[in-house]
Amino acid sequence: MRVSLLGSTGSIGRNTLQVLREMERPVAVAALAAGRNVAEMARQAREFRPDIVSVADEAARADLAAALSGIDGYRPRIVCGPAGNLAAVRVDYDVLVSAAVGVAGLEATFEAVRLGKRVALANKEALVVAGELMMAEAARSGAEILPVDSEHNAAHQCLRAGRRGEVERLILTASGGPFRNTPASELACVTPAQALDHPTWKMGNRITVDSATLMNKGFEVIEACHLFGFSPDEVDVVVHPQSVIHALVEYRDGSVIAQMCPPDMKLPIRYALSYPDREFGPRQRIDWDSVRKLDFEPPDRRKFPLLELAYESLRRGGASGCLLNAADEVAVEAFLRGRIPFPAIAEIVAETLSNGASQEPQRVSDLLAIDREARVFAAGLAARRGAAQRPGPSRRRFA
Ligand SMILES: NC(=O)c1ccc[n+]([C@@H]2O[C@H](COP(=O)([O-])OP(=O)(O)OC[C@H]3O[C@@H](n4cnc5c(N)ncnc54)[C@H](OP(=O)(O)O)[C@@H]3O)[C@@H](O)[C@H]2O)c1
Repeated sequence: MRVSLLGSTGSIGRNTLQVLREMERPVAVAALAAGRNVAEMARQAREFRPDIVSVADEAARADLAAALSGIDGYRPRIVCGPAGNLAAVRVDYDVLVSAAVGVAGLEATFEAVRLGKRVALANKEALVVAGELMMAEAARSGAEILPVDSEHNAAHQCLRAGRRGEVERLILTASGGPFRNTPASELACVTPAQALDHPTWKMGNRITVDSATLMNKGFEVIEACHLFGFSPDEVDVVVHPQSVIHALVEYRDGSVIAQMCPPDMKLPIRYALSYPDREFGPRQRIDWDSVRKLDFEPPDRRKFPLLELAYESLRRGGASGCLLNAADEVAVEAFLRGRIPFPAIAEIVAETLSNGASQEPQRVSDLLAIDREARVFAAGLAARRGAAQRPGPSRRRFA
């Protein structure tokens, strides 16, 4: 099996490479693409010897070329930027693992879909931003999109128990994040370090903060609607702090099929890479002696308004998912840099969504243009919120 991997230096990327090391069938890496972590990319390239390696820009490309020079008999094509990501999906491979973070992975993932490839999709933003275009293109080209996101991967497994017409609803579980029990009145004081301290999953920074705001769960609702053809009313969210059950599918006869496994992304990655077979991998089991109870509670939609906003963006359609993602990416970055308080993330996303005109994007380039505009707008909001927060003569309180 030949694999191309976007986002190889990240949390999903490294887990993917670990899964490849452990696979029973022979594997080869056709291409690796990532951003600015040249040292990690050089280590990966030395080990897996892909034909193509791509990094974020020209400076990183030069550093990578220097790091890879002098390796006997290994002369990869070293490329960079959006063109580099595209080169990585145009080589010969069986599966693309799309695991770059944010909108950076969109164009190349869409290209793989256009080429009719099998895509193991972790980059949920690709579906949040361009779900309608992506699924229409997959239907045209015959591309197969297999979810890596643990909830959707779980849903994919649960849906194999019956026919689509027999399904009443899909329920996605959420850990509730680090602020599940924090009073709403204290959220203005939480720090980036607290937001990055996820109770059950170890992930990249953006998705970890998105888990704390429940934006991530909102993105997953959008992703589920596109992937499986559900309407927003057919997808529910339940908080399940133990993260043992990842999704539940309720059938029309009242039966509920749940998927459970330890919270480790290597399992869904292995499933997506080996489907329709199941490669077993190293032994990983739920420790039933330590799981004494499974709790469920409804999400607090007032405390975490971004979940509801995701439903609203689904109902609006068009470019709403694009606005949601762009504003969230900018706001999360501003929060992580200590420029805005935690509740301002939701305020910035809400304002960017309501400001966006009702546009009907026809192609990915339209979405990328809307994305750029939305980022400028959201960055302006973040700068104003940041200025309002700083002590000084013009100090204002947050609403
Ligand atoms: N982590 C999880 O458990 C998990 C679970 C479900 C879904 N996901 C989704 O999977 C995706 C990746 O998440 P993550 O947690 O692995 O994020 P991460 O650890 O932050 O890694 C992000 C990856 O994207 C790369 N990247 C950044 N800019 C790029 C560009 N312009 N072109 C190509 N690659 C670029 C980064 O490269 P550098 O580091 O070299 O800059 C890195 O390899 C996200 O969409 C996330 O929502 C993650």
